[in-house]
Amino acid sequence: MITTERPETTVTEVAATKTVLITGASSGIGLAAAIGAAKAGWHAVATMRDPAKASALRTAAADAGVAERIEVERLDVVDPASVTQCLDRVIATHGRLDALVNNAGAGRLGSIEVADMQAYRDIMEVNYFGVVQTTKAAMPHLRAARGRVITVTSVGGVVGQPFNEAYCAAKFAVEGFMESLAPVAGTVGVSVTVIEPGAVTSEFVANQRLDVPALLAEVGPYAPALQAYIDRARKSFSAAQSSQEAAASIVAALTADRPAFRIQTSDAARDFVGVKLADLDGSAVQDLTETWVH
Ligand SMILES: NC(=O)c1ccc[n+]([C@@H]2O[C@H](COP(=O)([O-])OP(=O)(O)OC[C@H]3O[C@@H](n4cnc5c(N)ncnc54)[C@H](OP(=O)(O)O)[C@@H]3O)[C@@H](O)[C@H]2O)c1
Repeated sequence: MITTERPETTVTEVAATKTVLITGASSGIGLAAAIGAAKAGWHAVATMRDPAKASALRTAAADAGVAERIEVERLDVVDPASVTQCLDRVIATHGRLDALVNNAGAGRLGSIEVADMQAYRDIMEVNYFGVVQTTKAAMPHLRAARGRVITVTSVGGVVGQPFNEAYCAAKFAVEGFMESLAPVAGTVGVSVTVIEPGAVTSEFVANQRLDVPALLAEVGPYAPALQAYIDRARKSFSAAQSSQEAAASIVAALTADRPAFRIQTSDAARDFVGVKLADLDGSAVQDLTETWVH
């Protein structure tokens, strides 16, 4: 059973006029969240860095009968001007913003001894600074609407995973940022939630454009460990939940009366995060993740 609400709260109906801005809506969880939000009665501003990639979203919106509640806007989370321009257009058109879903993100497989620093900076730029930038720009509007910030992190934002140092570090940073912001935002009526998926079927792996033989050659002495990790990851992705299932937790956070701060999108994700949250000396996580690289 997945918990999406703080205890003792109830789900309320959402007014049809509420507007949510979603980043990274060209595919996967962001696309499914735009459809799910529109089906729940919200107006979804589905943003993407290249609006020419909106055809899958438009087809899904038409199939779901919600095309009139979805609009596509350009927003690249690593381009501050595109963030403010997009928000200006939303406020000019709708007069308000009730929720921000920070969903855009990208993974990176590798390890520090063989990766260049730029790769680490790039992954932090998209997954962390992109979230900070977009949240900062949206906060005045969310404060005016007593709205909510919902951010897709990952189980990797709680549990550090082998060969995901750059990605997990960035998602840890996002979790720390949001956990710190939550009580402050709460004083002005804005709720803050992080969504923690495990493996999800989307473009996430394909977008990393992995060349596994090249990667194995590049990591030298770490090749056996990386091979073991990849074998295990393939198994875990064969049992992945769908983007629609993961996005259901985003919609639940949008529509719940008082959403919980931390929501896992599946029982598997919940069990995994639970290991870390009860692991005071770090040994339980190390015992677990060591088995992934042997
Ligand atoms: N799939 C998983 O197993 C999994 C597990 C845990 C957490 N997550 C998280 O879930 C979120 C959504 O990922 P997904 O699984 O749906 O993968 P996805 O299909 O690759 O979607 C990622 C989205 O982020 C967009 N994006 C990348 N860089 C961007 C930028 N600079 N500005 C704006 N958008 C940008 C991509 O746009 P383009 O089409 O332009 O590349 C794409 O629409 C991410 O934050 C990811 O870290 C995924």
